Amino acid sequence: MTGSPHYGTYHHTTREQSETIRSALRVAFNEAFACINHENAVEKILDAGCGLGFLSEQAAKFFTKSSVIGVDLFGSKSLPEGDLKIAEQNMQIEGLKERVKFIKSDIAEKNFEENYFDLIISNLVFHNLGKARYRAYKNIRDMLKTGGFFVIGDFFRPKDKETLKGLFSTSFDKGNINQMPLQYSIMILKK
Ligand SMILES: C[S@@+](CC[C@H](N)C(=O)[O-])C[C@H]1O[C@@H](n2cnc3c(N)ncnc32)[C@H](O)[C@@H]1O
Repeated sequence: MTGSPHYGTYHHTTREQSETIRSALRVAFNEAFACINHENAVEKILDAGCGLGFLSEQAAKFFTKSSVIGVDLFGSKSLPEGDLKIAEQNMQIEGLKERVKFIKSDIAEKNFEENYFDLIISNLVFHNLGKARYRAYKNIRDMLKTGGFFVIGDFFRPKDKETLKGLFSTSFDKGNINQMPLQYSIMILKK
């Protein structure tokens, strides 16, 4: 399939602003992935709230032996164009359709077995969940293998950071990302 992938327009931004944000986030997430000390190969990745597959694509290209599962409600307020079929088309265009699959699912529910994923990634999702995000953080921890990583970029409140630091053994916080408001940062957490 030819054409360009379309990763959507984020809430409160124009299409162009969303592209600019993604350019900055590509750099920041690739730096975060490079910080992960993965003695064992990263094979199973979950993209929690994958949207149209923007971060799934970045992770699949960085971790070349991995398979990625992207889960999303598809079509919620924070990305109204969200559509599983468009996400699949994007991966076909990127040449990643064999390694990146999508499932419609709520990340506040436990839909995968425990100790399954080597890496869970997420961008701009959990702040949309209200109080259910605390349950979702615990689900993420449970689905990760011991020694696995959770790389999350979001608008954090102090209580989110405290909760996450309480759930995971080590954490690293990459703040001050170009194009993003100050309360956005990327946390790298290890189970
Ligand atoms: C701002 S978009 C970000 C999408 C993608 N991570 C990216 O960076 O392009 C937020 C996404 O979170 C999804 N989302 C919100 N609440 C969710 C939930 N409870 N379960 C799964 N996905 C959810 C929305 O459907 C939307 O696609």
